[in-house]
Amino acid sequence: MTEPQPLWETARLSAQREFDESRPPAERNRMGQFATPTGLARAVLRVGLSHLPPGEPVRFLDPALGTGSFYSALLAERGDRPIVSATGIELDPVVVDHARRLWANTPLDVRAGDFTSLAPRADDHANLLIANPPYVRHHHLSQAAKGALTRSLRHATGLKVSGLAGLYCYFLMLSRAWMTDDGIAIWLIPSEFMDVNYGDMVKRFLLEQVTLLRIHRADPNDVQFDDALVSSAVVVLQNRPPPAEHLVRFSFGGTLERPALERAVALGALTEQPKWTRYPREADAPTLDEGTPLGELFQIKRGIATGGNDFFVLDDARVAALGLSVEHLTPILPPPRRLPVDQVNSRSDGSPELPNRAWLVRCALPEAEVAARHPALWRYLQSGVPEVSSGYLCSRRSPWYAQETRAPAPLLCTYMGRENRGRPFRFILNQSLAIAANVYLLLYPKPALAVALKDDPRLLERIWRFLNSLDPKTLVREGRVYGGGLFKLEPTELAAVRVPHEVCGVNAGPTSEADQAPRQMALGFRSAS
Ligand SMILES: C[S@@+](CC[C@H](N)C(=O)[O-])C[C@H]1O[C@@H](n2cnc3c(N)ncnc32)[C@H](O)[C@@H]1O
Repeated sequence: MTEPQPLWETARLSAQREFDESRPPAERNRMGQFATPTGLARAVLRVGLSHLPPGEPVRFLDPALGTGSFYSALLAERGDRPIVSATGIELDPVVVDHARRLWANTPLDVRAGDFTSLAPRADDHANLLIANPPYVRHHHLSQAAKGALTRSLRHATGLKVSGLAGLYCYFLMLSRAWMTDDGIAIWLIPSEFMDVNYGDMVKRFLLEQVTLLRIHRADPNDVQFDDALVSSAVVVLQNRPPPAEHLVRFSFGGTLERPALERAVALGALTEQPKWTRYPREADAPTLDEGTPLGELFQIKRGIATGGNDFFVLDDARVAALGLSVEHLTPILPPPRRLPVDQVNSRSDGSPELPNRAWLVRCALPEAEVAARHPALWRYLQSGVPEVSSGYLCSRRSPWYAQETRAPAPLLCTYMGRENRGRPFRFILNQSLAIAANVYLLLYPKPALAVALKDDPRLLERIWRFLNSLDPKTLVREGRVYGGGLFKLEPTELAAVRVPHEVCGVNAGPTSEADQAPRQMALGFRSAS
């Protein structure tokens, strides 16, 4: 059971929703305006507070405040620890207004401005700095802005980052000036800096100018995991020179507080090693697989459970014979064994271009209304009482014939099959509006891929062709083989299948537009959808 939200968080979430709905996603993307989900913000605050000496009062700073998800989490998690100061800096005046209204009766000082061009006041230094900085890509930074950032950074750290570095790198490195000696900072930033060239200076900063305590990354293969962390790293640091023989804690998967895997890595080893994402998995060997896991590109779900396919799924002839009206019918793909093609084209009405079309009977109207207004449908539904209506799923639905809503998926996978009957797994490119039952796994592009698809509509086709070209054994390595040669892939297993960068165009290199995709996804902080 989830615990109830404090009232202030409910109010903040509603302000956040209002703001999110008022801004086109592309604009929020450009400004890096994606809020941290409540659960994650609270976990980050618990970790941050656990690093402060017991009883030490909090001096809080969020340099990219937004509506204040971290401040809200601080109020929820601080226990009886006093807050002596709290500052939030925010560039967007509309967000500033929301934050000021939300936190008017609290000690939070909401300051309007660009964090990277502000200097701390004498009493501003924070012992708890928490940030999910804007993920503004380098090519959205003007030359003038980059010049100013470079000068400020050189002044603050003596370091110069590559021109390919995103705004978050400057935020991170400029923030030390805002911290107390021994202060703790936690940053939610793209994990990309751990491996790419432009991250070198960030790594140097983390190795030399502060004490890097921990880096946690989510397991991108775990589709259950909060999307907010996929491809992001949670970096915990302390503002003090690193002690000799310092060990950095690398954790991966599970949750921030209960990771699936951990390893302590010596600072010396990190200095030598250009690719940090190999930790904690590998002690010393290079990482194995290249490519982006499907789970980073797609949200993978099972198709709908109708509660009785024989009853709810009808072919054209049956629909005509029953005289059902089109408003109660949704096109649905036939089961894999009766789907003759791997590419399903669309007719003008959105139904699949197939000789054997199938329709899902779908109606959520109350029984009395169906009886009064839709006699043909009513007669048909009555023929399912009580056999179908008393079934496990139907008897738990209201009305019993209601169906789950599920959008058509552009890519589907048959996830169960026998090798001796052809390919056990087929990937279906669906260009129609047909939905599918749970004999398929449905792949919905995550926000970043959706954006990439707008720019390159053939991308999906390339991914589809690649997946169909895979030797089933490659897929089976992720899945399972049961008795009698039955192959089966669970959604999490399918999520682990990797698509090479050449195919999906993501993670192709630091200069590529598309390399931002998995990170955008991480940052997309998909709202409640
Ligand atoms: C990724 S959001 C995080 C917001 C909030 N801290 C959270 O975690 O939900 C980044 C925020 O930084 C703001 N921002 C962008 N550029 C900024 C800048 N140069 N200085 C301060 N804030 C900035 C954006 O408007 C946005 O509200």
